[in-house]
Amino acid sequence: MLKDKMIAGINEQINREMYSAYLYMSMSAYSNMIGLKGFANWFMVQYHEEMLHAMKLYEYMQRQGGDVLLKAIEAPPAEFESPMDMFVKTLAHEQFITRSINDLMDLAIAEKDHASQIFLQWYVNEQVEEEENDNDIILQLKIIKDDAHALLMLDRELAGRMTTVPTDFSKGIESAMNAVVPAP
Ligand code: FEO
Repeated sequence: MLKDKMIAGINEQINREMYSAYLYMSMSAYSNMIGLKGFANWFMVQYHEEMLHAMKLYEYMQRQGGDVLLKAIEAPPAEFESPMDMFVKTLAHEQFITRSINDLMDLAIAEKDHASQIFLQWYVNEQVEEEENDNDIILQLKIIKDDAHALLMLDRELAGRMTTVPTDFSKGIESAMNAVVPAP
């Protein structure tokens, strides 16, 4: 059973994860528009990751008897200055999400909500990976600077990112996770 503050916090986090998906969808569209299809692929894979993050919260809430209350999703920016601008904004957004997850964990600890602490641990770990991925690409973009050839090489590399998370949640998260074929 979840307490009211935790229900409110998880509903807010569902909205933040959905906004994250929306933001990366917008970055994917922008990347396509400027001819960087590999970047577009990377952000679309990230979109799927965010949908999983939202759906895990959605399912956890229902399993714990909390009321899911979906709120309006803010419109993300539609234009960006450069690939670096997109990744700097991505990292800043992920740092915001990390703070938000940490706040939820603090709440779970304060409320002595052990189930939520264990559930949220997955997100704590996930945020370390998310920030690391963004930092890695920012470092590469710093090396690339204005070298168009090197940028296209990175674009080719990002084109290889595969979606490894489930995208069909109609039968629940566990069934969706089991249905995912591991990457070779
Ligand atoms: Fe769901 Fe990128 O944090």
